[in-house]
Amino acid sequence: MTKHDIGQKYDRYILKPVLNTILLSHGEGSFLVDEVGKRYLDFVSGFGVSALGYHTEAALRVKDAVTAQMEHIWHNPYYLSYTKAPALLAEKLCAITPGSLQKTFFCNSGSEAVEGAIRVVRKATGRKELVAPQQSFFGRTCGAAALTGLSQDKKGAPLLSGVYHVPAPYCFRCSLGWEYPNCGLACANYLRDVLAYDTSGDVAAFFVEPVLGDVGVIVPPDGYFDKITSICRDNGILLVVDETLTGLGRTGKMFASEYWGLEPDVLIMGKALGGGLSLGGFIVNPQIAETFSTKDFSSSVGGNTLACAGGLATIKAIEEMHICDHVQSVGNYLIEKLKILMGKFPQIGDVRGVGLLIGIELINPSNKKTAPEQASLIKEKLLGKGVIVTVYGDSTLRLTPSLIISKKEIDIFLNVLEDSLKEVCL
Ligand SMILES: Cc1ncc(COP(=O)(O)O)c(C=O)c1O
Repeated sequence: MTKHDIGQKYDRYILKPVLNTILLSHGEGSFLVDEVGKRYLDFVSGFGVSALGYHTEAALRVKDAVTAQMEHIWHNPYYLSYTKAPALLAEKLCAITPGSLQKTFFCNSGSEAVEGAIRVVRKATGRKELVAPQQSFFGRTCGAAALTGLSQDKKGAPLLSGVYHVPAPYCFRCSLGWEYPNCGLACANYLRDVLAYDTSGDVAAFFVEPVLGDVGVIVPPDGYFDKITSICRDNGILLVVDETLTGLGRTGKMFASEYWGLEPDVLIMGKALGGGLSLGGFIVNPQIAETFSTKDFSSSVGGNTLACAGGLATIKAIEEMHICDHVQSVGNYLIEKLKILMGKFPQIGDVRGVGLLIGIELINPSNKKTAPEQASLIKEKLLGKGVIVTVYGDSTLRLTPSLIISKKEIDIFLNVLEDSLKEVCL
């Protein structure tokens, strides 16, 4: 079957249009290879799912674990009968997640985990309302889309009612017009006002991503999470941290919460958790676990045995191969080099990120407005030169390469990016 035939079937039978019309053959390390052997440096990694790269030593460990599990049983709903893989993975998650998180509910995806977390915090508190930052992203199912603070992802309203938003900690474009640190963290303080004036006082939880991924990698400033945590504690509100994108080494720590000493009541996981197989989950502290009863939430395919075996092998690979140290080292290198590039091209308005979750925000230098056309042109230029990236927010190139990417491969990316910037901006 030719690429043309497959493209036609996509057009005719697949509902969601494809972003890049490349026909993939296979992956090699941090590269994807198309049907005619052209190699693409992959700076998307399946939206962060294929974190360990393709056919790398780390990825092969996952393959071996999944293959070994296949010899026994492929799927058993983990709450139907005992199997080893979910038990071991849940024990491991208890050990590696921050604070006193202990019991995991497994499902299939980040969105499903968010839905489950909404149910659980409502049950645990007996309260209904929820608060989250504007511009944050929690998925596209009804509850997750209601929490999401981006109107483009809320189509199909009305969604869940009783959800309120506070300004995002987006210092480069502060919606309150302040500058950090003179702002006194006005965006975090805003939570007090929303609780006092907008809600009916029936708030169960504050949902937050450690780094806001979909609007273009917003790293909250120092002090933000301390303030948010203390407002939540003062008001008896649970703190739910969504690490779907940031978890499993993406930021150079197993969980990004570690950077800010966050101790969530509920932590949400997904994407890389299954080592490339569908797996999501949320882990709760013992007090919340006490309130959960068996009919509160279920998922027939969630916690699939193969995915749990893959997840455990993923975490062991990250630990045993010291992948977080590597991510910190190459991530810092990449950010440093991008900041040098920012000095050469005024069209780069901001470079921000942690570990290998990095955003390059493109702007119109004359007025600092976003530059969606230029961002999309640069994305296309990069693709033509064999580098895959995606654009998030209005005009931010979001970089999520494999966690095992080498400095040499990062240099390839930097050269291609500089060439593309020259072609589009000069
Ligand atoms: C922080 C966050 N939460 C939830 C989701 C939704 O995850 P999924 O696409 O697996 O449903 C995403 C996906 O991008 C995410 O980044």
